[in-house]
Amino acid sequence: MSRLESTINRLIAQKVLLDHAAALIDTREGPVFELGLGNGRTFDHLRQIFPQRDIFAFDRSIRAHAGCIPDAEHMVVGDMRDTLRLVHPRVPAKPVLIHADMGAGDPTADLATREWLSPLVAAWAADGGYVLSDRRLELPGFTEIERPAEAPVSPHILYQKVA
Ligand SMILES: C[S@@+](CC[C@H](N)C(=O)[O-])C[C@H]1O[C@@H](n2cnc3c(N)ncnc32)[C@H](O)[C@@H]1O
Repeated sequence: MSRLESTINRLIAQKVLLDHAAALIDTREGPVFELGLGNGRTFDHLRQIFPQRDIFAFDRSIRAHAGCIPDAEHMVVGDMRDTLRLVHPRVPAKPVLIHADMGAGDPTADLATREWLSPLVAAWAADGGYVLSDRRLELPGFTEIERPAEAPVSPHILYQKVA
């Protein structure tokens, strides 16, 4: 598979899995976390599929498309190793979906991220809530959700926190 084909697959899978998570969450209340605002592509999709929810976006700096930047209350700037520990005062409830889109493409860097990110994600996720990650995380007490048939092959994993 060429890199172009795997990039196309990854983006389609990301959209299919986010839409699937939105259907699974349905009417359950709670905010959404976007870990890795990047240029705002998936944030823009999240706000379309979750028009009524608070969406908190995290990144070390703001480099997103001008039209895809959350307001100051919902944009959390800084290293997530710090901000995920300290953001509690502005988050009204545990998130029903955490979208982690931080893969570096380097296996060692991804392992290092997994080590510090997993416990923070595990602690933040609401009971019964979902985590879509572009890389495997270490999440004891979570179950892996079967991918919809229309999701092409990609590294994404959809987890649910067992209540
Ligand atoms: C792949 S990009 C996100 C793409 C984005 N979701 C989109 O669709 O446009 C990953 C982002 O994660 C951010 N990131 C990675 N590690 C981080 C950390 N430790 N703290 C804060 N931001 C981090 C990077 O700055 C980068 O913008």
